[in-house]
Amino acid sequence: MGQGIIHQALACKSAGELDELLRKHKYPGLEKDAIHGINRYAAYCRASGVEDLIKQKRSKKKHNNNQKQGSAAIACITDSHQMRVAIYASAIADELGLLKPEKRAAELGAYHHDCGKLAYRNMAQLNSRKRFTAEERFEIQMHVIAGAYMVNTGSVEDRLVAETIAFHHENPDGTGYVEGLSGEKIPVTARVLAVADRFDTMRSGKPYAPAKTFWEAIADLTANAGMQFDPEIAKLFCEMLTLGDRFNESIYSIACRDVEKRFEPAVLQATASRG
Ligand SMILES: [Fe+2]
Repeated sequence: MGQGIIHQALACKSAGELDELLRKHKYPGLEKDAIHGINRYAAYCRASGVEDLIKQKRSKKKHNNNQKQGSAAIACITDSHQMRVAIYASAIADELGLLKPEKRAAELGAYHHDCGKLAYRNMAQLNSRKRFTAEERFEIQMHVIAGAYMVNTGSVEDRLVAETIAFHHENPDGTGYVEGLSGEKIPVTARVLAVADRFDTMRSGKPYAPAKTFWEAIADLTANAGMQFDPEIAKLFCEMLTLGDRFNESIYSIACRDVEKRFEPAVLQATASRG
């Protein structure tokens, strides 16, 4: 990895240092609340290790689910975006034959991929909109830098997790952020995460865009292969979700779930009219 902002963020010793680095690179600085949240999350990761953190969250979900029966148990562990993305990333890593540290980085990077959104001053507002000012765009981009810093506990294994998060918005055609990497310069675990994350986002919808159907999401992955998505990984994931030798029933059942109607037409309309 080069000497870009990610490399420097991973060398930061505190959220205060991260704040200075961001300002130096023309990003908005971190507000007090954001520094507090980032410090807490980073301290938690350092105390328990990133792997323990995900185990704790998984066992908490299982525990909560003890009173429930049968398929409700599966629904419970797949009921959040971050968990579904982690499950997709894990399955893709297996199909690609990634080695253990890379598989772990794909899974944990997927689970924590947007933790850096704690750095947004105005997270709920920014998350509900499609168009942004140039300054807001910088603010949104900060989440990959902050997220990478937060999970970087100092171990070699967690460095791979941090790099997965750092580069999950890079595009193979070089149009992504924050460093504009292209093709195989983007770590494979980040390319896996990008496919898993964006597929689940398409299926779940956003306040400004309704959820895509299963087939619409597959068509989008195919259409954007080579641009937004690594072509091999997008093709592989589509094959895992459709009938054939690579078909994976467990991820298919998650991908085909009924998407909650979180965003009713009235909400969409209100968001659209705000522009
Ligand atoms: Fe993200």
